[in-house]
Amino acid sequence: MDIFKKTQGLKLVKFLKRFGFYPFFREIEATDGTSVTFQGSEMIMMGSNNYLGLSHHPRVIKASQEAIETWGTGCTGSRFLNGNLQIHAELEKLLAEFLGYEKTLVFATGFMANQGAIQALAAEGDFIFSDSENHACIVEGCRLAKGQTVIYRNHDMNDLEKKLQSVPKKAGKIIITDGVFSMNGSIAKLDQIQKLAKKYNARTYVDDAHALGTIGKGGRGTSSHWNIKPDIIMGTFSKSLASQGGFIAGSQDVIDWIKQKGKTFMFSAALSPASTAAALESLKVLMEKPEMVKEASNKADYLKEKLTNLGLDLMNTQANIIPIFVGSDKKALKLSNDLLKHNIFVTPVVFPAVPQGQALIRCSVMANHSYEELDKTVEAFSHFAEEIIMENDEKKIPLHTLLNTSLNDNQLSEISEITERYQ
Ligand SMILES: Cc1ncc(COP(=O)(O)O)c(C=O)c1O
Repeated sequence: MDIFKKTQGLKLVKFLKRFGFYPFFREIEATDGTSVTFQGSEMIMMGSNNYLGLSHHPRVIKASQEAIETWGTGCTGSRFLNGNLQIHAELEKLLAEFLGYEKTLVFATGFMANQGAIQALAAEGDFIFSDSENHACIVEGCRLAKGQTVIYRNHDMNDLEKKLQSVPKKAGKIIITDGVFSMNGSIAKLDQIQKLAKKYNARTYVDDAHALGTIGKGGRGTSSHWNIKPDIIMGTFSKSLASQGGFIAGSQDVIDWIKQKGKTFMFSAALSPASTAAALESLKVLMEKPEMVKEASNKADYLKEKLTNLGLDLMNTQANIIPIFVGSDKKALKLSNDLLKHNIFVTPVVFPAVPQGQALIRCSVMANHSYEELDKTVEAFSHFAEEIIMENDEKKIPLHTLLNTSLNDNQLSEISEITERYQ
């Protein structure tokens, strides 16, 4: 059989693309951070992880431009060999100071930071306890590691304890969790995780991709939120720090080990000068203006209150991520398209990113969104609130009807199979 035969699948994607309803890979024509131009229309960006709005901050742009002039456009090699620059060290030093850890290590992406660190730390005979809703790169890191992965139910401390009890007492153990879960905005119960870790002699590892710059003192994340220090913090520059890249924070020994053993660190080119400088300058801005964190969370609270008043279910989010529970994938798909017509840019979150029947629209608030932009967002949602809340059974409604597309007989028969399967 031709190994590429499977690539002729993706019928649903093809159908949605053909009729202009595909809600992903939308090409943005221009952006200033809080607003974007899409298909010639200016829209409010409500689906970005640019939590502090620093991607267009003049100081961050200038630092990035200057880094290109000083260091060139790329590092053209691994940090292990020829790509290790002074600004990487400067960024690592400031991150360590900001978070209160001995050392940090910068990777080319956050994804690679998790993959490399988990692979390096969990050796044969070790056990990783991983929350069932952890990000895909933690899952991939666990797959790469020689140690065994044990999944515990999201936020379920009884399940975690049972699973900690089920492995040999003397085995090396590490509990890994997202700090803020990216889909529903819930915060890991780090206080209880830390107690269990102590009781069962396990280490703790927190992915703070969505927590840095958004929660904790001055945006120091989940550990600061709980006033608890996990053994390891992972973070990314691709969200609050408005750049690209990621890092691991820990003790000198742990960081030195990952430096020597983490394959995604050793065998990949160093983070580019422009990205390194942008992350460094963003961190400096955050440290100088911690009030930005409060500004973003105040605005998120404002939007949450208004959307809740419309009767929408925001899934008890605790962060600046605002999930609007929709239910069926079809409805989420339709809504994200409807909201575009009201100049609101959001993306649907559908299966398999969330379980079947738990689709949502994910909004996130930036520190520099204006209240006018937030009000416009609420106004747009108000047109669809009833539809979102109503428990109608879209499974019975063909997708093309829901999307208001007329099809000829040939097209209808071609997609009937897809729409039946698509819920
Ligand atoms: C929880 C979490 N961890 C890690 C990552 C990966 O970060 P990066 O974008 O730097 O690869 C993401 C990005 O989506 C994330 O949401």
